[in-house]
Amino acid sequence: MKLISFLFLIVTASVVRLIAAEPAAADARDQIEALRAEIARHDRLYHRQAEPVIDDAAYDQLKRRLAELERAHPDAATAAVPLAPIGDDRSGHFPHYRHRERMLSLDKAYAEAEVRAFHARLVKMLGRDDLEFVVEPKFDGLAISVTYERGRLVRAVTRGNGIEGDDITANVGLIDGLPRTLTATMEHPWPEIVEVRGEIHVPLETFARLNAEREAAGETGFANPRNLAAGTVRQADARSVGSRGLRVVFFGLGACEPAAAQPATQQRLHAALRAWGLPVIPEVWPARGADELVRAIAAVGRARGEFPFPTDGAVVKLDAVALQREAGSGEAAPRWALAYKFAPERAETRLRAITLQVGRTGVLTPVAELVPVAIAGSTVTRATLHNRDEIARKDIRIGDFVYLEKAGDVIPAVVGVNLSRRLPEAQPYRFPVACPACYTPVTRGDSEVAVRCPNLGCPAQLRRRLEHFASKACLDIEGLGPAMIEILVGEGWVRELPDLYRLRRADLLALGRNNEKSVDRLLAGIERSKRADLWRVVHGLGVPQVGAATAKDLARQCGSLAGVAELGPKTIPALGDLRFQGVIADLISVGVGAESVAAVTGRLKGRVLVLTGTLPTLTRAEVTARIEAAGGKVSNAVSRHTHFVVAGAEPGSKLKQAHEFGVPVIDEAELLRLIAGK
Ligand code: IVH
Repeated sequence: MKLISFLFLIVTASVVRLIAAEPAAADARDQIEALRAEIARHDRLYHRQAEPVIDDAAYDQLKRRLAELERAHPDAATAAVPLAPIGDDRSGHFPHYRHRERMLSLDKAYAEAEVRAFHARLVKMLGRDDLEFVVEPKFDGLAISVTYERGRLVRAVTRGNGIEGDDITANVGLIDGLPRTLTATMEHPWPEIVEVRGEIHVPLETFARLNAEREAAGETGFANPRNLAAGTVRQADARSVGSRGLRVVFFGLGACEPAAAQPATQQRLHAALRAWGLPVIPEVWPARGADELVRAIAAVGRARGEFPFPTDGAVVKLDAVALQREAGSGEAAPRWALAYKFAPERAETRLRAITLQVGRTGVLTPVAELVPVAIAGSTVTRATLHNRDEIARKDIRIGDFVYLEKAGDVIPAVVGVNLSRRLPEAQPYRFPVACPACYTPVTRGDSEVAVRCPNLGCPAQLRRRLEHFASKACLDIEGLGPAMIEILVGEGWVRELPDLYRLRRADLLALGRNNEKSVDRLLAGIERSKRADLWRVVHGLGVPQVGAATAKDLARQCGSLAGVAELGPKTIPALGDLRFQGVIADLISVGVGAESVAAVTGRLKGRVLVLTGTLPTLTRAEVTARIEAAGGKVSNAVSRHTHFVVAGAEPGSKLKQAHEFGVPVIDEAELLRLIAGK
């Protein structure tokens, strides 16, 4: 995010330069090539690395300029090095798979006039003016094509270059709500072969929670839900796909056989997708004629604040498939659809102060304290400034009027300063040299952007550690909220996590702030937490890089808190830290984790696997034990209920059956990756 706005300035400057003068024909070719190279670079950053450095509007401006130049100088356009028509998202980590039908992109519009021009084009082309449309929210995630053959999921492929994409079937199989088999009804039988097209995304609430967890652990958050979705599902490593709350929604068709099975309108397609049991868009807006179309887009814009999923626009589609066919497609996008991109909302307000938040690992995060301002339906008073470098780069000064932006995503960000309103006495911000909570001089690692308070006894860090330990995601201790923690730390009764288990009822009552009932409730909650699942305790320790998924792995592998102390450091070096070792030993001594059970992480929970052939390293008994430990079941026969067939050397007829039923076939290495999440 930070980087984005900075680079945005540079790129904007170069866009302006590229746009400035109408070139002579001789220059045109150079300019076209330069623009194409620039666009290709951003395509790589966006699609392959999921790390864009400019926002969508700046990118689209580059594309438009290119289109204008190509129109004005057709010869130069032909002579110049060409640009792939669709940004390629293939990462090199997955086998490629060819789509049965091409996967296109969408033309973009930013203004009402462009929507009206789109409408007028279709009216002219189709020779009628009563055209009916459907307007849908534009989900902001990663495009996916899922193939079902005779109702069975056989493959999930990214858009790639539109012709072939990455086969990410195993990862996509871990997404909640994606059915392995389609439901057939009398009215909606499934086609023999169908490619359903949709978007993998992360719900806004999940995004906010994951980012808060990361920031609390001193890790950098994801810039937006799209990067989180795209980054997660295309990891060679399936590890976090299951734990990051990804979702998928479907809104289109690729190949459909027999062709007669294809619904006749977009609205009926939604009904069919729903009947087949696929997740679909919760609400769509029908419209007839240009005026209604413009109004429907505005309605999506208004409703958008309430959507639980990330959106960056509205997609307009001609409803009747017969008319879609008549309109046809250009090289990169259909002529019958248009994506209207909403402008990011902007507001200007005054920066009253910069405060520092101390995270549980000591990371100091600067926070902008703002004069309250309304933006995209909510009032914003604070926004993260991320880190010291970020403030310096933007030269943000206390008292400045700053621009806030809430783009397709959720987090309001300070994107720049209104220099024309800067007061002459405004001073560059000096990042504190000492922790605001304990006054210990701050440190900064060579390769880190984060500035930290190195004092493990820092009361602010301790409070954060306790909040994390007691949170719902960890030990879920009732009655132990920030106010109570403040008291316990302030009184000096709790200096480390295990001290919670040594609190005395009489002391708590003597405080006089709590009645007997609430004190007993707190103590009962603390007592109960001794028996919590082992992974919750491990997660609660707050070890850097150990989130819920890793904690579950550790708990399963080690079996006990003592085991985690002993074996854990082999995989998680930070666990070897003396402080964590001390805390674990002390937690054991007060009785935490004694009755915990190592939770089944369920990476294969509910999945049925069939084995065939000889695996390279594991015996049948070993592999069965591993699958079961991960919550999966091993079955002897392949059926439509089988999730994966694990094939080794000299496989039997089960391999053939797998192909017949369209069950994905994986090898031992892939299975182990799935289980260990590596
Ligand atoms: S229709 C042939 N509908 O946006 C047209 N796309 O920029 C196929 N997207 O690749 C796309 N929400 O991944 C369509 N309601 C929606 C969408 C949507 C998000 C994505 C999709 C597509 C990209 C084009």
